Amino acid sequence: MRTSIISAAVATALAFAGLGSAANITEWKSRSIYQVMIDRFAQTDGSTDVECEMHLFCGGTWKGLMNNLDYIQDMGFTAVQISPIVKNMEEHTAVGDAYHGYWSVDNYALNDRFGTEKDFKDLVAEMHKRDMLLMVDVVVNNMVQGFDNVVPPKVDYSKFNPFNDKKYFHPYCNVTEWENSTNYQDCWLYPYGVALADLATETKPVVEELGKWIKGLVANYSIDGLRIDAAKHVNDEFLPTFVEASGVFAFGEVLSGMPDDMCRYQTLGLLPGMPNYLEYYTLNEAFNGGSLINVAGMRNSAASSCNDTAALGSFIENHDMPRFANRNDDIGLAKNAMTYILLNDGIPTVYQGQEQHFKGNGTPFNREPIWTSKYDKKAPLYVLTSALNKVRNNAIKLSSEYLSKPSETLWSDVNHLCLKKGPDGSQIVFCVNNKSSKGDSYEVSVGGFQANDKVVEVLGCKVNTADTMGNVTMYMGQGEPKVYVPMDSLKGTGLCTETQQDGPSKNGAGVLGVTGSMLLAAVIGWVVVLA
Ligand SMILES: *[C@@H]1O[C@H](CO)[C@@H](O)[C@H](O)[C@H]1NC(C)=O
Ligand SMILES: *[C@@H]1O[C@H](CO)[C@@H](O)[C@H](O)[C@H]1NC(C)=O
Ligand SMILES: *[C@@H]1O[C@H](CO)[C@@H](O)[C@H](O)[C@H]1NC(C)=O
Ligand SMILES: *[C@@H]1O[C@H](CO)[C@@H](O)[C@H](O)[C@H]1NC(C)=O
Ligand SMILES: *[C@@H]1O[C@H](CO)[C@@H](O)[C@H](O)[C@H]1NC(C)=O
Ligand SMILES: *[C@@H]1O[C@H](CO)[C@@H](O)[C@H](O)[C@H]1NC(C)=O
Ligand SMILES: *[C@@H]1O[C@H](CO)[C@@H](O)[C@H](O)[C@H]1NC(C)=O
Repeated sequence: MRTSIISAAVATALAFAGLGSAANITEWKSRSIYQVMIDRFAQTDGSTDVECEMHLFCGGTWKGLMNNLDYIQDMGFTAVQISPIVKNMEEHTAVGDAYHGYWSVDNYALNDRFGTEKDFKDLVAEMHKRDMLLMVDVVVNNMVQGFDNVVPPKVDYSKFNPFNDKKYFHPYCNVTEWENSTNYQDCWLYPYGVALADLATETKPVVEELGKWIKGLVANYSIDGLRIDAAKHVNDEFLPTFVEASGVFAFGEVLSGMPDDMCRYQTLGLLPGMPNYLEYYTLNEAFNGGSLINVAGMRNSAASSCNDTAALGSFIENHDMPRFANRNDDIGLAKNAMTYILLNDGIPTVYQGQEQHFKGNGTPFNREPIWTSKYDKKAPLYVLTSALNKVRNNAIKLSSEYLSKPSETLWSDVNHLCLKKGPDGSQIVFCVNNKSSKGDSYEVSVGGFQANDKVVEVLGCKVNTADTMGNVTMYMGQGEPKVYVPMDSLKGTGLCTETQQDGPSKNGAGVLGVTGSMLLAAVIGWVVVLA
C-alpha cells in the first residue's frame, strides 16, 4: 500500500514536470516570484556563518536552494527566478569574479560552481513537486572574457562554446549613445574589468544557434520561464524568435522609465513581459520625497501604453539596483512598498533579502548573502509578505477575474494610493501611504465594498463593517499599509483566525481624548473567530 502511494506521488510529480515546461503566460500571471542569486542564497550544508567578500564567490549552491525551499514557500511564493546556470569564465577581474553567473563562456555546460547536473535536476524536480515554477535568467547579448583596459579588447574567441569565432560577434565599439539604438544594441557594454563580446544577434547563424540552444535548455531541465538579461541591448527582431523557440513565458530586461520606450516591446509583440521599471522609478520617488499621485499617474500611462500590464513584473528591488532601504530604512515605508508590489496588477517579484530589510547599496553591495539573516521567518517583512501572498493566492483561487481585470483606483493624493483589485465578494481593497513609521493617526473613508459588508483588515486582523455607501473607515497610524477583504472570503485560509473590532489606534486615542488603556480594553473585548 505504502509503495503504491509513493509511486502514485512520483507519477504525479513526473507528469507535472512534463507539463511544467509548458507554463504559459496565463499560468505565470497567477504566480508570485522570489528572485534568487544562487551564490548568495544558501550553502549546501546550510551553514549560516560563512563570511562573504561581496565581489567573490561566497559558496551558495543549487542544493542549498533546494534544501531551503520551505523558507520561500512558507512566504507564499509560487515561483522562483534564479541567476544564470551556464558555465562562466574563471578569470579574476578588477570588478571581481563571476559569482553572479552573467559571464557566460560555455552555453552547453552547467556552471559547476553551483553544483552538478544532478543537483540542478533535483532542484527542479523538488520545485515542481511543490507546484512551484522555475524561471531561469539567460544571457544572449554577449559572451565574456577578462579585459585589461587596452582597447580594442584582445578576445580569444576559441574559448567560447558554441560561438568560437570572431564572425559571430559585432566589431568592438563602446556603448556611448544611450538614445541611439544602433549604438546600444551593436556596441559592447561595460568595458571595464570584463569584455562583453557582443553577439551579432541579427545574423542567421547566431539566431539559429541561440534558438536551438534555448529549446534544448528548456527541454533538458524542464524550465518554466525565462528572464532575458539585457533584452534592450539586442536587436528587436531577435527577441520574438528567441521567445518562440523557448516555448515558455519570458520577462525581458528593458531598463527604461519611459512608457513609450518600454511598452513598445509588448505592443509590437517583441516580448510577452518585462520587469516593470516604469513603476519602479516612480514608486521609489514616492517613498523618497516624491508623491503617490505620480504613481497613480504612471499606472495610467503604463496601462495606456503597454497592452498587458498583468504580464509585467512588479518589483521594488532587484540585483542591479541599490536596495529600497539603502535610501531610507524606515520599516513603515518598506511595508508599503512590499504591499504595493504584491497586490499590484502584474506578477509580483521580490528579490531575496527584501523580506529581511537588507540595506545594500549598488552592485555588489545589493547582493548580501541571505544566510546572515539565519533565514529569520519572524522578520516583520517576512511575516508581511507571507500574509500578502496568502491573500493574493486566495483571491486568485476564488476568481480568475482577479488576474484578468486591472485594479481600480479608489482614491489617491500626494500621500496615499488606494486600489480595489478583484470582483465583489473576493476583492482586495488596499491603501499604501508614504507617511513612514513616524506617521500620524487619522481616519480615512475608502470605498470598494457593498453596503454593510463585513470586512477584515488582514495585516492587523481587525474587523469592520462597510457603511451604506460601501465605504470602510480606515484607522491610519504609524504609516502602516491597510489591506481589506470581505470576511467571508477568508474562510479556510488560516489567515486572521482571531480578529478584533477595528477602531482608533492607541496613538489616535490621545487625539480623541480617550485613554489608551480604556480603548484597548474595549477593543480586546470583541473577538471573532473565523473558520
Ligand atoms: C495556458 O495553459 C492552460 C493549461 O495549463 C490552458 O488552460 C490555457 O488555455 C493556456 N492559455 C493560453 C493563453 O495558452
Ligand atoms: C566607454 O564609454 C564610457 C562612457 O560612456 C567611458 O567612460 C569609458 O572610458 C569608455 N571605455 C572604453 C574602454 O572605451
Ligand atoms: C548611432 O550609432 C551608430 C553605431 O555607433 C553610428 O554608426 C550612428 O552614426 C549613430 N547614429 C546617430 C544618429 O548618431
Ligand atoms: C540537451 O540534451 C541533448 C541530449 O542530451 C543535448 O544534445 C543538448 O546539447 C542539450 N542542450 C543543452 C542546452 O544543454
Ligand atoms: C499585446 O500585443 C501583442 C502584439 O500585438 C499580442 O501578441 C498580444 O496578444 C497582446 N496582448 C494583449 C493582452 O492584448
Ligand atoms: C510623501 O509625500 C509627500 C507629498 O508629496 C512628500 O512631501 C513626502 O516627503 C513624502 N514622504 C516620504 C517619506 O517620501
Ligand atoms: C467613500 O470612499 C471614496 C473613495 O473610495 C471617497 O472618495 C468618498 O469620499 C468616501 N465617502 C465618504 C462619505 O467618505
